[in-house]
Amino acid sequence: MASKLEALERWVNEVAARTRPAKIHWCDGSEAEYQQLVKEMLADGTLIELNQETHPGCYLHRSNPSDVARVEHLTFVCHKNQDDAGPNNHWMDPTEAHAKIDALFDGCMEGRTMYVIPYCMGPIDSPLSRCGVEITDSPYVVANMRIMTRMGKAAQERIEREGSFVKGLHSTGELDPERRFIMHFPEERTIKSYGSGYGGNALLGKKCHALRIASNQARDEGWLAEHMLIVGIENPQGDTHYVAAAFPSACGKTNLAMLIPPEGYRKDGWKVWTVGDDICWMRPGADGRLYAINPEAGFFGVAPGTSTSTNSNALQSISRNTIFTNVAVTADNQPWWEGLPGTPVTDWQGRPYDPANGPAAHPNSRFTVSAKQCPTWSEKAEDAQGVPIDAIVFGGRRPSLLPLVMEARDWAHGVLMGAAMGSETTAAATGAVGVLRRDSMAMKPFCGYHYGDYFAHWLSFDKPGMKLPKIFHVNWFRKGKDGKFLWPGFGENLRVLEWMINRADGKARGMETPIGIIPAEGELKLEGLNLPREATSELLDIDTAGWQAELDAIGEYLASFGSRMPERLHQEQQRVARGLSAAE
Ligand code: GDP
Ligand code: PGA
Ligand code: MN
Repeated sequence: MASKLEALERWVNEVAARTRPAKIHWCDGSEAEYQQLVKEMLADGTLIELNQETHPGCYLHRSNPSDVARVEHLTFVCHKNQDDAGPNNHWMDPTEAHAKIDALFDGCMEGRTMYVIPYCMGPIDSPLSRCGVEITDSPYVVANMRIMTRMGKAAQERIEREGSFVKGLHSTGELDPERRFIMHFPEERTIKSYGSGYGGNALLGKKCHALRIASNQARDEGWLAEHMLIVGIENPQGDTHYVAAAFPSACGKTNLAMLIPPEGYRKDGWKVWTVGDDICWMRPGADGRLYAINPEAGFFGVAPGTSTSTNSNALQSISRNTIFTNVAVTADNQPWWEGLPGTPVTDWQGRPYDPANGPAAHPNSRFTVSAKQCPTWSEKAEDAQGVPIDAIVFGGRRPSLLPLVMEARDWAHGVLMGAAMGSETTAAATGAVGVLRRDSMAMKPFCGYHYGDYFAHWLSFDKPGMKLPKIFHVNWFRKGKDGKFLWPGFGENLRVLEWMINRADGKARGMETPIGIIPAEGELKLEGLNLPREATSELLDIDTAGWQAELDAIGEYLASFGSRMPERLHQEQQRVARGLSAAE
């Protein structure tokens, strides 16, 4: 056993020799350790105390204004063979990448503490879980990792038992965008991140491990690591169906995971259970169904837009023990963002609020909170076996063309729907906002290998003995001629989920169209919505000419991945295109 622990100690010593910290702290994950870190961060200004009467245990962190989102152009996936990274990733030769980033790590922790964070992604006792160790010089990262993962002693014990873990090295560095890299070495199961303290760039268990590295582990081991929420829908008979849904960042995962049923549904006894809001690891069980766990233990949610009317579960979750990043503050020192009542006095950069400077809270401002504080947190989230998935949903921000909901005729068609996904860009990553781009399965920034191989891996689950979930595509963001959303969204999305579950249970007929199955007349319950009749028909309208152009664009997109794109997906694209021509 000693040799397994040695592997960890040897690596920690190697890192310390390079970064030369004054002190090394092995995190045990205890409450006392967290409180001590908070105390130190309050003293040096890393954290600012918020109103402890209204928000006990809540603190504000203001990041460097040049460091407010994930940086996709500085994120590299360094396979030995460039082709393995695919055109969907930035690639650097691993030897060159190590040399480049190691030079930045040289002496970077001098005079400061180096924290060693053993963590487990997923329930500690689950065979689906995987462990990692993050080394960082940022106490803010330690505090966030304690909320977002199962961190500390128990994780270290599992690592000592198993001997294998993902290595993550992080330093906040000088926060100079010119000296910032997020590097992944899939073959070495290693991550090195320098120069950013923000979210997915720095909390290495999340996007770097649980998606980019884990997607490689998943392919090798026969499972799926996906950018999906997991939600349980309990009907009035007490049956719970689990749905996993992939939407790009800031396109509604957290909201759907914490959905509050519309009043009529609530009265009838419908309940919604939150299992995860961002990442889903799925693997076939002995019965051929896919079983999913949420590898995370907390939420790193988008603050703006979170309110009692949109997501009161999230709002209740974050009333205590929460770290806020880049939100605004009110006169009585409460956290504030666009969408909340009241007025801000200080903006996210700590300046007196002036609308001329833009929004008071940064559009990508966030809350970090333990999932256990969510009123709808599911006890199944701790289940080592995971939950069986009945439906997989893809979706994005599509102002036109894409209907409110459609169902794939079979698994291969569903994989095409996921591959063809597009969405308008959001503030979750740096760069222009509102530009339509393809984001296959919401994994464009997170798939740690060639998209062609990834689609082939998805297709490989369709084999005898499997009882695969149905696949759907949704669009909450279709707009009418007036430029407003046609669909009210949020809690009302349950109406769409109910139709999906009815389809999965064989209780809804659906209507075949060339692009997929949509709800037949009367199958989507719209009572009490006051939707204008035109809105309803527009939401499910299929514009044949528009779809033909879309299918051409999808064909070109698939072709851009070259010979690694499975032929099966080309055939599927051609099948749908032919169906459209025939329908004309
Ligand atoms: P995530 O990053 O994918 O988890 O996205 P969030 O759930 O945090 O939502 C991102 C933004 O989309 C927030 O501003 C939400 O208010 C908004 N949003 C979420 N769900 C819906 C919806 O059903 N309809 C509309 N119109 N907006 C939504
Ligand atoms: P998200 O994740 O953008 O998917 O919400 C946040 C982050 O990784 O910074
Ligand atoms: Mn989210």
